[in-house]
Amino acid sequence: MTYDSKHTEILDPKTWYDAVADQYGQHHNHLNTFYHLDFLRFLPRKPSFDIIDLGAGDGRMFPQLNAIPHTAYVALDLSKEMLLHHPRGAKQLVADLEKKLPLHNDTFDIAVSFFTLEHLEHLETFFAEVYRILRPEGKLFIGHFFQRRAFARTANNKNFKIKQYKRTTAELQAEAEEAFFQTEILPLYDKDDHTGDLLLCTKNA
Ligand SMILES: C[S@@+](CC[C@H](N)C(=O)[O-])C[C@H]1O[C@@H](n2cnc3c(N)ncnc32)[C@H](O)[C@@H]1O
Repeated sequence: MTYDSKHTEILDPKTWYDAVADQYGQHHNHLNTFYHLDFLRFLPRKPSFDIIDLGAGDGRMFPQLNAIPHTAYVALDLSKEMLLHHPRGAKQLVADLEKKLPLHNDTFDIAVSFFTLEHLEHLETFFAEVYRILRPEGKLFIGHFFQRRAFARTANNKNFKIKQYKRTTAELQAEAEEAFFQTEILPLYDKDDHTGDLLLCTKNA
């Protein structure tokens, strides 16, 4: 087991999210601007898209993504317990974003990953795998918010922290470009505060 300087236990993401899945939805009112993006303005004109949410959790992104015309919608997460809270209407897939994904090449037009990359130690596999499963000109939307402190929660009367890797948006951008994505950073504001960025990554044609 790992502990921080105040002897709070630090859990791996799967154990943590399985433990807090029942309470995760109570925090949905936090950072709402991230969940009101107009995705269509970044997308080409097409009658339908195939969508995957990477680290979908309990489906906070679902109302927005479900509104995009689509044929397939996959909600992928490491935590089966989080996915149990995900709205029906998406195909659920338990998988690890640090490993090869059980998905075919050139399958999706849109991949979204919000508040998830901070849990991945190695980003090379993540970006290479997302590049592989996206179709040419497919888009990866990364929601990255600036965190001051590591998440801490109580579950079963015990305090926990989660293992996290702090990175700047520029560091994420550099990793994405290593995997051949074309990138763009758009700042996101909550009222007047710059609370995070949208990193938009496009696969080559
Ligand atoms: C902060 S939550 C974000 C959930 C959702 N994207 C949102 O914006 O509300 C992070 C999610 O990433 C998932 N996750 C963490 N590490 C993962 C990994 N290696 N592979 C897949 N999912 C992972 C967690 O289980 C959790 O559901």
